[in-house]
Amino acid sequence: MTLALKYRPKRFEDVIGQEAVTRTLARALDTGQLGHAYLFSGLRGSGKTSTARIFSKALLCQEGPTSDPCEKCEHCIAANENRHIDIIEMDAASNRKIDDIRELIEHTKYKPAQGRYKIFIIDEVHMLTKEAFNALLKTLEEPPEFVKFILATTDPLKLPATILSRTQHFRFKKIAQSDIIHHLERILAQEGIEYESEALKIIARSGGGSLRDTLTILDQAITFGEGRVDVKSVTKMLGLIDPAEIAAIFSLILQKNKDALITRAKELRDYQTEMILDEMILYLKEELFAKSPTFSLMLYERFFKILSDAKNLLFYTSDDEFVLLLTFLKLLEATKIKDIEELIGEMESQGLAASASQPVAQPSPSQAVQEPTPTATPTGPAQAAAPTSPATASPTPSASASGEESFAKLIDKLYERNYELGECFEKSVKFVSFENGVLTWQSAPKNECKEKLKNSYPTIKHLVREIFGVNTKIKKVDPPKDVNECSSMVEEAEFGGSCIQQKAGLAAKEIEAEDLLNDPMVQKAKELFKAKRVVIKPKV
Ligand SMILES: Nc1ncnc2c1ncn2[C@@H]1O[C@H](COP(=O)(O)OP(=O)(O)OP(=O)(O)O)[C@@H](O)[C@H]1O
Ligand SMILES: [Mg+2]
Ligand SMILES: [Zn+2]
Repeated sequence: MTLALKYRPKRFEDVIGQEAVTRTLARALDTGQLGHAYLFSGLRGSGKTSTARIFSKALLCQEGPTSDPCEKCEHCIAANENRHIDIIEMDAASNRKIDDIRELIEHTKYKPAQGRYKIFIIDEVHMLTKEAFNALLKTLEEPPEFVKFILATTDPLKLPATILSRTQHFRFKKIAQSDIIHHLERILAQEGIEYESEALKIIARSGGGSLRDTLTILDQAITFGEGRVDVKSVTKMLGLIDPAEIAAIFSLILQKNKDALITRAKELRDYQTEMILDEMILYLKEELFAKSPTFSLMLYERFFKILSDAKNLLFYTSDDEFVLLLTFLKLLEATKIKDIEELIGEMESQGLAASASQPVAQPSPSQAVQEPTPTATPTGPAQAAAPTSPATASPTPSASASGEESFAKLIDKLYERNYELGECFEKSVKFVSFENGVLTWQSAPKNECKEKLKNSYPTIKHLVREIFGVNTKIKKVDPPKDVNECSSMVEEAEFGGSCIQQKAGLAAKEIEAEDLLNDPMVQKAKELFKAKRVVIKPKV
């Protein structure tokens, strides 16, 4: 006999995880406030049929109706052996037609043979046809006083409202994992079978809250493990990954051991990727609840997100192995961000962030924004020749070439990290020079950028060190006065006003720009596109 059958509950107190239902039914029996039609709904294998049988027995017991049937009278004995003539079970999945229901209704007209009630248990009632439901309605509403109906279904939403409104509805819950594990422990103790607690956890989880399914898996596990229930044989039987393996993967991720992760991903190709991802999520969840210090809150959040994204990705590709490796590497990358956050935390705690932000200086509100990519409009050359401050004019191209490249890289990185930050930085900060480990830039952030740059300074500084070298110092110079004037007219320039690039080199190009604008091709294009505004962007 299977465990599920052997351990079918016979009394209300044996039904686990459904206290709300059993308590209400017991009260109804003891107070005599009985309805004539009950509906039991809920997950498969959660105790509906069992409870319907217990309730029937309780109704028919010689001493009853009582929540505590005697178990000795002929009714109790017959009911326990599932052969009571007045308890009629019908499976609506295989008897779903109107004729089946008509036959049943005929049956309700005759008095019970032995008991005080005639009880009809209709399982899987949602399977009845529409006509069958209609035929049942009248009897369900006003059955003979000796008739009781117990309808059971896993899918109450499929029932017509007319049926729902004529029954007392009891909802069976998904049984809690802890309750299930307890139950398994009791059964195994009774069966004299050795087990590992961790293995029971895995079995309970695989049962998905259905006790019947769980017991079926336990049956298999006992056979598979040759009379012993341990993690190794259970995970193997279910095609699951050993929890220790999941822990090992996370530790490789935290160690940033890319090579080992690639090897792991290859080794795991025989497993279902979705299952591995689920197990990883579950592992994190357990760690979170156990308040494990291994992961920071932010890492949990990032990891959960990456893992759920990966599950979505599985819908779009059949290449599981690729998704798994990609996920591992994304998780690894996410830990690097953790380092930055830690760094920021450290800097903040040391009060460094505050003093370090000095170089960025609080720009006075009067300082206007500086155009990032010069938007040149043709102008007279006169102002172009005007010398700018030494800070901007001085860097010789050769000395600053690599510095400038690195600065461009810095901007890229900032964009990668956070698009708005990149934009603000590019717009507000100009490279001046990079000499002797000192990166000099000119900064004049405007309004919201000011705040953003200030707040992100630790990140910026971190990236500067990454790109320019760990000992790099940042020096900030104010934009020269005349440049300010110029840049304050940026909007005007954009709309056809005039503004001059401060770099002498560009001034020469401006002349060419004028020629360009007068080029017949450009003129034609202007006409074609009805251009209101033409902007020339230098390549650099
Ligand atoms: N709440 C429970 N308490 C104890 N055992 C349970 C419970 N639910 C299910 N079981 C076990 O699962 C077996 C099947 O339960 P039962 O037939 O009552 O479930 P069900 O809800 O009617 O399922 P289905 O929807 O598939 O008909 C029982 O024999 C018993 O071993
Ligand atoms: Mg059932
Ligand atoms: Zn009895």
